[in-house]
Amino acid sequence: MCDGYTATLRPATQDDIEILVKWDGDPELAWLMGCSHRTPEESRARLSKLIGDRNSVVMCIVDPDGHVVGDIVLTEIGWRRREAELSVRIGERENRGKGIGQQAVRQMLDFAFGRLGLNRVYLRVCADNLRAIQCYRKCGFKREGAVKRKLAEGQEPRTVVLMTVSRFELLSKDVAS
Ligand SMILES: CC(C)(COP(=O)(O)OP(=O)(O)OC[C@H]1O[C@@H](n2cnc3c(N)ncnc32)[C@H](O)[C@@H]1OP(=O)(O)O)[C@@H](O)C(=O)NCCC(=O)NCCS
Repeated sequence: MCDGYTATLRPATQDDIEILVKWDGDPELAWLMGCSHRTPEESRARLSKLIGDRNSVVMCIVDPDGHVVGDIVLTEIGWRRREAELSVRIGERENRGKGIGQQAVRQMLDFAFGRLGLNRVYLRVCADNLRAIQCYRKCGFKREGAVKRKLAEGQEPRTVVLMTVSRFELLSKDVAS
């Protein structure tokens, strides 16, 4: 697990944008996340807007030395519906598969349900991204359905799975375990 360390979350600031822009430009990450290619300028503008947006939460995932190893984001926060969409990435390949993703998702769910008072968090993940799906399952997400969609220009359609978790489900799981 994380070479023995605990990853933590902290709010992203404008100073973090360049590392996030770099990851946005990684074609392997874009494929795993089902995103279309963005130019650095498009990434900068999008991230800058997200960081200042009251309907989004952008957190950096940091190691004990304070190095940013990934990001985790809530977008489309619906304050009346009390729900939001989650996405997460660990930037460098060698840091994946060490439990950091599960730590980050659990901490973001605590924040979403505890601090923000949300009732439901959902996400979309490509069906061939088995590691991500397993990570989300371990954190309490359940599959709700799937659709086949063209995600990016020049690519074949891919199957996208919708997964959700509710505050109630997580609480009952905690009580049961
Ligand atoms: C998805 C992501 C955030 C998960 O974080 P992570 O730190 O790599 O994942 P974790 O190590 O916490 O958990 C991965 C789990 O999947 C399992 N796993 C790894 N490869 C797998 C595979 N090919 N098939 C099934 N399970 C797999 C691991 O064993 C682990 O499960 P376990 O705890 O039961 O052993 C990270 O891999 C990542 O950033 N990937 C690239 C971006 C991405 O895909 N983001 C999600 C877009 S929706």
